[in-house]
Amino acid sequence: MSVQVESSQMAAGWSAPKLTIVVPTFNERGNIELLVEKLEAVFPTTPFEIIFVDDNSPDGTAELAKDIGKKKPWVKCIKRIGRRGLSSACVEGISASNAPFVAVMDADHQHDETVLPQMLAMVEADKDLVLASRFLDGRSAGDGLTKFRETASNVANWIANLVTGTKITDPMTGFFMLKREKFEQVAPKLSDEGFKILLDIIATARNMGKPLQIGEVGFTFRARHDGESKMSPLIAVQFFGLALSKMTGGYLPSSFFLFAAVGGIGVFVHLLALTLASGWLGFNFTNAQLFATIVAMTSNFHHNNMFTYADRQLRGLNYWKGLLSFYAVCAIPAIANVSVAAFIFEQNSLFYLAAIAGIIISIVFNYAMTRIFTWRA
Ligand code: GDD
Ligand code: MN
Repeated sequence: MSVQVESSQMAAGWSAPKLTIVVPTFNERGNIELLVEKLEAVFPTTPFEIIFVDDNSPDGTAELAKDIGKKKPWVKCIKRIGRRGLSSACVEGISASNAPFVAVMDADHQHDETVLPQMLAMVEADKDLVLASRFLDGRSAGDGLTKFRETASNVANWIANLVTGTKITDPMTGFFMLKREKFEQVAPKLSDEGFKILLDIIATARNMGKPLQIGEVGFTFRARHDGESKMSPLIAVQFFGLALSKMTGGYLPSSFFLFAAVGGIGVFVHLLALTLASGWLGFNFTNAQLFATIVAMTSNFHHNNMFTYADRQLRGLNYWKGLLSFYAVCAIPAIANVSVAAFIFEQNSLFYLAAIAGIIISIVFNYAMTRIFTWRA
């Protein structure tokens, strides 16, 4: 089957884009019009398109993007409803492209658009992926990052290079371009959780035995033009989940590590509640244990909802429904845990081994079941 190419659109001078620029947005209404103009100025002759991927911003970014698109058909907008997340937004934007090359950049003018033509020249020549680095040639992130974020960013870079097995100066940048065909290769194995799409693409390609040829260009990270950053401690936490996931070759999802970490915090909460209930409130051991279990389960639910499943967070009535299903799911291994632990303990009296086996079984069980019943994908 072949696609018909002669049409009135062609006669009107339309030509297929060579480059798609994907711009994820959340509350960027004050930034996008000027961004479109800057991109047009940078590519006066190259056919390109811009795809905004907006998560139904309350400030009406998507509506404005669609209005711009009425006059400028090279400006498109994917509006996602009921979803949040930078990585998955980028994945959806790139997936909508049919151009040979795709770029991802922020909407807030922190990324210097004038380096785009150089990036395009490099992916057209021999590179699979070119990232725009804030730190190339000993540069520092200038006005764009606070001192604290710069230090945090150095630590994260070190871990990221470990995970990707590369030596790049800015693995965490949100500004890059690649051959679309390379993206298609890794797409089925990308994690849709979190903020770190670039890291995910590079690490996944490497895990598949198809490492990418990577180039870098330097740029100076500018201060945000309008609005505010969506970066948060939550995103830093999610980064560690993704790093661990990629270290296991992607076999365990990052949410599993976050779920396990939340469970670890839950153990402390449990012990604290147990001490409180038996010491201060004078509960007998069984009642204190029951009390502590409920407190720990509630705390685990709350933290998982905030961190592990931030992208599908339950709110309002769904929060309470979720809590009930979480109690129901966790009660099963809690009971099984006691018997498994007791069994191993009777067999060979290895107290700690018994306890650890019980804990691992519960985490795996709870993780799997709450993904089905509490935080449905
Ligand atoms: N669709 C969508 N959904 N877009 C989002 C979301 C989301 O949940 N969160 C953020 N964005 C968009 C923002 O609207 C912006 O265009 C872009 O993603 C970057 O978000 P910022 O909130 O401006 O992030 P930042 O400037 O703090 O972080 C930048 O620097 C980091 C490294 O320090 C980004 O480029 C990160 O990707 C980068 O890792
Ligand atoms: Mn920004």
